[in-house]
Amino acid sequence: MIVTTKELFKHAYGKYAVGAYNINNLEQTVGLFRGDLGKVKTNEEAANAATSAPFIVQISRGARGYSDKRFLESMIRTADEIFPEVIFAVHLDHGTEEVCYDCIDSGFYSSVMIDASHEPFPKNIEITRRVVERAHAKGIVVEAELGQLGGVEEDVVGSVCLTEPAQAAEFVEKSGCDSLAVAIGTSHGAYKFTGGQGIRLDRLKEIQSALPKGFPLVMHGSSSVPKEWVDRINNAGGQLKSASGVDEAQYLQAAKLGVCKINIDTDGRLVWCAIHREAFRDDPSNFDLRPPGKVFMAAYASYIIHKNGKLGSAGQLESVRSSLKGGSGGCRCCCGH
Ligand code: G3H
Ligand code: 13P
Ligand code: ZN
Repeated sequence: MIVTTKELFKHAYGKYAVGAYNINNLEQTVGLFRGDLGKVKTNEEAANAATSAPFIVQISRGARGYSDKRFLESMIRTADEIFPEVIFAVHLDHGTEEVCYDCIDSGFYSSVMIDASHEPFPKNIEITRRVVERAHAKGIVVEAELGQLGGVEEDVVGSVCLTEPAQAAEFVEKSGCDSLAVAIGTSHGAYKFTGGQGIRLDRLKEIQSALPKGFPLVMHGSSSVPKEWVDRINNAGGQLKSASGVDEAQYLQAAKLGVCKINIDTDGRLVWCAIHREAFRDDPSNFDLRPPGKVFMAAYASYIIHKNGKLGSAGQLESVRSSLKGGSGGCRCCCGH
């Protein structure tokens, strides 16, 4: 069942964060849907209520262009049929104004992100406001971004790039966005911190206090870049030196301060890379894509289960379902649930 993030965030606020996972291909999609129902090896195995979680499938502009955006849409619709118990939102990740309109008009996405964070403050508000008006007219919600994510390696971590609490309050009021991605020390990719910096929870708390009560915040660049997976890649011929990510213990701390959506893309790529490197190292005569693909789908499903455990969303699926039945929220897709 496809819902908006608004419904998911209402349930999660202050308690846990919903995982927002990027997909690019079939194997990631299968692993993601299985994992969110606590399944690992096959689509048919019984769902596990203790680990089942609501989630967000997110699609970047790069993913839309990788093959054809319509493949992604078809895969997600099919996954929704194969796994009828799931509850999720379909979200455009880092959209431009033009791509947001394409997604809004497609009738498939339930949420879009307009990323005008590189623009001056008034222009960011102006662009976001336009997207909000077009999206709300169709019942679609909008995530916007204020501040700039950095990375120690890019030399841009520092107060100048972090989201300013007072600006965040003004931005939310004037743009009308439904959720806000904030810069609080994280960065995209596999090289986030050189030392033990971590997320700036102090800044997050200030932002939460400046915003209307219950306003959902979003954390980008949240992969944990697990040492286990980096080591497996390096032991199988990879060269990821000094990769590091967000401490998973900080996910719930951030959730308690209003972060309802936590974006994970890099970790999924690391799992993919490790499994495929190991497969070809261990069986050099193999040239068949299916054996590593099968191992990857199961490994990715297990990883999603693990991640949802750390986000606190594991085990929340049935409670979300009950709250949707009791409230005004409902199915947004056109597949007849
Ligand atoms: O924030 C960026 C996401 O990780 C998407 O990455 O543009 O390479 O698909 P991508
Ligand atoms: P990571 O690179 O940390 O996985 O962040 C992904 C992200 O923020 C997608 O928008
Ligand atoms: Zn991002």
